[in-house]
Amino acid sequence: MKILITGCRGQLGTELQKQLSDEGCALGPLPERLRKATVIPVDVDELDITDREATINYIRRHQPDTVINCAAFTNVDGCETNRDVAFKVNAIGPRNLALACEKVGARLIHVSTDYVFPGTANGGVPLDECAVPAPISAYGQTKLLGEQYVERFCRRYFIVRTAWLYSNYGKNFVKTMIRLGQTHDKITVVNDQLGNPTNAVDLAYHILKLAVSHDYGIYHCTGNGICSWCDFATAIMQGAGLACKVEPVTSEQYAAMNPASANRPAWSALDNRMLRCTVGDEMRDWQDALKDYFANWNGEL
Ligand SMILES: NC(=O)c1ccc[n+]([C@@H]2O[C@H](COP(=O)([O-])OP(=O)(O)OC[C@H]3O[C@@H](n4cnc5c(N)ncnc54)[C@H](OP(=O)(O)O)[C@@H]3O)[C@@H](O)[C@H]2O)c1
Repeated sequence: MKILITGCRGQLGTELQKQLSDEGCALGPLPERLRKATVIPVDVDELDITDREATINYIRRHQPDTVINCAAFTNVDGCETNRDVAFKVNAIGPRNLALACEKVGARLIHVSTDYVFPGTANGGVPLDECAVPAPISAYGQTKLLGEQYVERFCRRYFIVRTAWLYSNYGKNFVKTMIRLGQTHDKITVVNDQLGNPTNAVDLAYHILKLAVSHDYGIYHCTGNGICSWCDFATAIMQGAGLACKVEPVTSEQYAAMNPASANRPAWSALDNRMLRCTVGDEMRDWQDALKDYFANWNGEL
């Protein structure tokens, strides 16, 4: 089996490579069929997914069985001010990969986001794969278009929506909070946006389970349990042993202090229903996965 990982130097791409080389992770061993897999990790310097011809030629030359697309423009505020870049990386990139995969009969696992949803409360019920997307930010809009192109141009696809992702590698909310906690006595964090923190270990493990299945379709894949960014930040300070106080603010107050920030959904808690109905939902409770992160944290930021 030959697996091409795009955006391989990001959080998820790095974690996928680690699990493929370690033959598993804390959640379990790598599926048997992946043990001898040939892995081709590429990032923008080797394969810029926004270049249609280059993408089609690269995939034709290497003939992967499966492509896992971890490449994205993930700076949510940056997407508002650099819409063309967001459009190219988050929508045209996956379109190019879908066209290329279809030409060689490869399967495409494309990673997307909870920010495709508008954030309306849904009666406090987590959103499953039947929920209708209606994004409220440039990031969410371009990621949704990317999903639609994947569905349209590649028959054998998996779209895996995750949320609030963190890992030992790259930039993320956990590392930002630790950095702030090391230099401040007190910080303010929004408490009226609710979702599911997701450890990249859990996400990568489930993506690799899907990679050997034929259960094509759309998946939600997030940590179990729901919290606010403020709850998440409080747990991070505890995990890192920092005394910094986390004080709640509303999204409205935060937006007044940060006028250039993008709109974010107030309710984007997801239900991993498709995982439960197919390969199994072993995503850990977000608090357990965060504890595990700190148990393995080497202090690097
Ligand atoms: N991070 C989150 O909280 C979050 C939440 C929900 C969903 N997701 C989704 O999860 C997936 C993985 O996210 P992540 O946090 O691992 O992302 P990440 O750490 O930002 O990594 C993305 C990688 O893609 C690369 N890239 C950017 N433009 C590219 C291009 N044109 N061609 C090829 N590679 C390119 C980036 O390179 P540079 O660094 O050089 O730009 C980076 O190495 C993405 O689809 C993201 O939308 C993430």
